Amino acid sequence: MLPPELRGVPLPPPSPLPPLLLLLLLLLQPLQYSARGAKRFDPTWESLDARQLPAWFDQAKFGIFIHWGVFSVPSFGSEWFWWYWQKEKIQTFVNFMKDNYPPDFTYEDFGPLFSTKFFNASQWADIFQASGAKYIVLTSKHHEGFTLWGSKYSWNWNAVDEGPKRDLVKELEVAIRKKTSLRFGLYYSLFEWFHPFFLDDESSSFQKRQFPVFKMLPELYELVNKYRPEVLWSDGDGGAPDSYWNSTGFLAWLYNESPVGNTVVTNDRWGAGSICKHGGYYTCSDRYNPGYLLPHKWENCMTIDKFSWGYRRNAGISDYLTIEELVKQLVQTVSCGGNLLMNIGPTHDGIISPIFEERLRQMGAWLKVNGEAIYETNTWRSQNDTVTPDVWYTTKRKENLVYAMFLKWPISGQLILGQPKATLGLTEVKLLGHGQPLKWISLKQNGIMVKLPHLTFHQMPCKWGWALALTNVI
Ligand SMILES: *[C@@H]1O[C@H](CO)[C@@H](O)[C@H](O)[C@H]1NC(C)=O
Ligand SMILES: *[C@@H]1O[C@H](CO)[C@@H](O)[C@H](O)[C@H]1NC(C)=O
Ligand SMILES: *[C@@H]1O[C@H](CO)[C@@H](O)[C@H](O)[C@H]1NC(C)=O
Repeated sequence: MLPPELRGVPLPPPSPLPPLLLLLLLLLQPLQYSARGAKRFDPTWESLDARQLPAWFDQAKFGIFIHWGVFSVPSFGSEWFWWYWQKEKIQTFVNFMKDNYPPDFTYEDFGPLFSTKFFNASQWADIFQASGAKYIVLTSKHHEGFTLWGSKYSWNWNAVDEGPKRDLVKELEVAIRKKTSLRFGLYYSLFEWFHPFFLDDESSSFQKRQFPVFKMLPELYELVNKYRPEVLWSDGDGGAPDSYWNSTGFLAWLYNESPVGNTVVTNDRWGAGSICKHGGYYTCSDRYNPGYLLPHKWENCMTIDKFSWGYRRNAGISDYLTIEELVKQLVQTVSCGGNLLMNIGPTHDGIISPIFEERLRQMGAWLKVNGEAIYETNTWRSQNDTVTPDVWYTTKRKENLVYAMFLKWPISGQLILGQPKATLGLTEVKLLGHGQPLKWISLKQNGIMVKLPHLTFHQMPCKWGWALALTNVI
């Protein structure tokens, strides 16, 4: 826009910029834009928090979390085994060791027993693909410090030097990228329970920074450069602030310079106080599932074994969430703007146990019918219904579609939805996987009553939950 006094007045030709100014402008250019033309980020939360999340993540909705490490060898209690046994000295853990291992057996002695003998990355990739998930997140290193790749910075405490003698991160990365359309992501624990550098830093109230400088930061750069994860799932701040971890410095590099700058997403666990506040998407807490819409993209990370993320040999069938419970988690989470990150714990010999495999394949079977109501959807003005409980909504605005996912098939065969307002001659209702338009009655301002088709058990398009596609409702 021109200032008013110049309107209608012919402009003089632009004067050439003084060479010095031109040079200055050229020098300033790379501070704003990288070679790719993308925005540059400063190592401040203000700048990093303003980054738009790459669109693929919100569209994906469903990912698989994999907790695997030396803790999978005792496979007792949880992945916190080492801590509970030797730090907290919890009786069940102390007794477990006394009863099953020689007296001088150390946690490090579990390392060589992490055999991964039957690990077939290609098989895992097939199962993950069949689950309907769009990304996976593997624990590349948990709080125990053991790296599933041959980290240069984890001497003799990594999967290439010890145990499997294989680069497990690489094998899974290659299989996922070669065989599936899933995105490959990695979990990484910032701190390590018993690393001498970390313990020494901690006793200096984190004034010393030996652990991030010599271990965590070099390792994280190595991990990103070698395996190009598109989800970087940080965890375990150990009570230290993000300044100790140099999280903002690292994230600015990740977004600006790293090989995954354009597509990588990260979470919010980057230092004490950063959770639910800074970083990429929010995780807020484990098993976070608020039941209402959040204004910021979030993820519900939860685990099929109610009591553990790592494999437990002594888990009973009732310790695992049922497929009905898992479908409910997915539906609630997506309706409220979240992604579901559903965890499994493979065994120390590399098996995804049949119970986990079954749950994964069941999710895939459900999504095969109902994926239309999940993937690439948006949240609607209502997240759940106000009349019938356990009805959850998503929408595809461009197609004028609202999806109502319901978890109980009504005995009457009639589903009352209090939220959608229908219009005669315009509104159409279909059951996903069934296809025929369904009869419905408008309840005016009180919503719509849908007559579900009379289906025998074998005619049902799916079990555990169903979805209606409603066209042209408001
Ligand atoms: C690994 O699994 C694939 C199936 O995805 C199979 O074709 C292959 O034979 C398996 N490899 C081994 C060594 O068992
Ligand atoms: C933090 O990371 C940035 C980016 O890698 C680096 O330039 C800076 O020197 C680091 N600062 C500290 C204190 O480690
Ligand atoms: C909808 O969700 C909110 C939040 O979880 C809950 O308070 C309310 O009872 C739910 N409504 C129904 C009908 O389930």
